[in-house]
Amino acid sequence: MVKLLLDGIEDPSIRYLNGYRAHGGYQSIEKAITMSPLDIVEEVKKSGLRGRGGAGFSTGMKWSFLDRKSDKPRYLVCNADESEPGTFKDRYLMEKIPHRLIEGMIVSSYALGVRHAFIYVRGELIWVAKHLEHAVGEAYSAGYLGNHILGSNFSLDLTIHVGAGAYICGEESALLESLEGKRGYPRIKPPFPAVSGLYGCPTVINNVESIAAVPWIVTHGGDAYSKIGVDKSTGTKLISASGHINRPGVYEIELGLPVEEFIYSESYCGGIKNGRALKAVIAGGSSVPILPAELILKTASGQPRLMTYESLNDGGFTSGTMLGSGGFIVMDDTTCIVRNTWNLARFYHHESCGQCSPCREGTGWMEKILHRIEHGHGTQADIDLLVDVSKKIEGNTICALGDAAAWPVASAVRHFRHEFEFHVRHPDQVTAPNHVANAAAYKYEEITHAKNND
Ligand SMILES: Cc1cc2nc3c(=O)[nH]c(=O)nc-3n(C[C@H](O)[C@H](O)[C@H](O)COP(=O)(O)O)c2cc1C
Repeated sequence: MVKLLLDGIEDPSIRYLNGYRAHGGYQSIEKAITMSPLDIVEEVKKSGLRGRGGAGFSTGMKWSFLDRKSDKPRYLVCNADESEPGTFKDRYLMEKIPHRLIEGMIVSSYALGVRHAFIYVRGELIWVAKHLEHAVGEAYSAGYLGNHILGSNFSLDLTIHVGAGAYICGEESALLESLEGKRGYPRIKPPFPAVSGLYGCPTVINNVESIAAVPWIVTHGGDAYSKIGVDKSTGTKLISASGHINRPGVYEIELGLPVEEFIYSESYCGGIKNGRALKAVIAGGSSVPILPAELILKTASGQPRLMTYESLNDGGFTSGTMLGSGGFIVMDDTTCIVRNTWNLARFYHHESCGQCSPCREGTGWMEKILHRIEHGHGTQADIDLLVDVSKKIEGNTICALGDAAAWPVASAVRHFRHEFEFHVRHPDQVTAPNHVANAAAYKYEEITHAKNND
C-alpha cells in the first residue's frame, strides 16, 4: 500500500515537530528554496494532482492562473472547513500529522510568491485548531516560518483562522467572505479568486489534502507522483469510510483501486457489518449521487468500478456518480432510502445560506415533501414534484450548494423510485419494522409513473 499523506501515522510522536522530522518531515523546504517558484508549479502540473476538496480541478493549472502581474499581495488559503457529511479525512490528517499540512503551506506559498497564508478551520474542530496552533508555533521556533526561512529570502506568516461552523463557508468564495469578517455568502464569479480573492487580491484556495500532497511532489518530483494511480486520477486519495462496514475509518488508497476490493478487503472496509447485503453507496460525500449496489460495484457496461474520478463518473449521472471529497458512505439492506434522503435534505435546507431563492426555497420544499412521504402522508404526485424541485435548483444558484442539495434527492428517486412508491401506496406500513425490506422488494410493474423520468 502506498502511503504519502499518512506515512508515519502509526507513530504518535509524528504530531510534534521532532517526531515529524524523524520521519523526514520539512525536507521539501530545503529543496524548494533551491528551485525557482515557477519550476515548482511545473512539477505540480506534471504530477497530475487534482483538487481533493470535491471538484477535482487540476491543482497545477489553478496555480498557473494566479495573477502574478498584479502589484497586490498574493494569498494562499487552505480550505479546512470540512463539513460535508461523510467526509472526515482532513480532520484526521490535521489532528494526527499537522506538520504535513504546514509543510505543504510553506512550500506552496514559496511556489506562489505568497507572504501571508491562512488555514481556515471548521468551527467545530476546536481541538484540531489547537493542534495546528501548537504545530505552527513549533514551525516558527524551528525557522520554517517567519522571516528568512532557513536563511533564504523567503518569508512567510501563517495564520490559523477558526470559522463559526457553517457548511456554506467551505464554498471557497463564502470562505473568503467569512475570513474577511463578513457573513459567509458566496460571491458571483467571475472574478475568480486567482484574480480577486482575499481582500480583493490574487488568491489560491486549496483543500487540506491537496496542499499536504505538495511536499511529496516537490521531494520526489511530479513524474514520480503521476506514476501512482491510473489515467487522469494520479496519486493517492484519502477516503473517509463510514456506514455499515466492519472497519470504518480513513484510508489512503492508490487511485484505481476497485470499489469492490475497497468495500470487502480486510485492508480497507472489511465487508458489510453482520454479514448483511450491500444496498447502496454514496461514494464521494453526501452531495454526490447515491448508487445502488449493482452500479457501485460495476459500471452499466459491466466493467468493474474503480476508485477514480473517471470510473466513478462512468455513465454520467444516469448510472454513475463522483469521487467528490471521498466520503464513502456504505448502506446495508436495513437502510430506508426515503428516510436517508429526507435526512440529507434536512441538512441542506439547514445549511442553505438563503442568498439564492431556488436553493433557499427549494431545499425547504424538498425537505417538506420528503418528510410527508417518509411519514406516510405523501402522494404519487409528490414523487414527481420532488424531482421537479430538484431540477429547478440544479444549476440555478450562485454556488454549488444548490447542486449538492439536488443531486442526492434526484439520484435517490432515479435508482430507488420503487421505495418512494411503496411509502406513498402503503402509508400504513411505513413504521412497520419490515417496511424497508418490503419497500426494497416492491415490484416495478406496480409503478404507474415512468421510472427514470428525471
Ligand atoms: C457548499 C460547498 C461546500 C464546500 N465545502 C468544502 C470543504 O469543506 N472543503 C473543501 O476543501 N472544499 C469545499 N468545497 C469546494 C471549494 O469551493 C473549493 O472548490 C475547494 O476548496 C478547492 O480546493 P481544491 O482545488 O484543492 O479541491 C465546497 C464547495 C461547496 C459548493
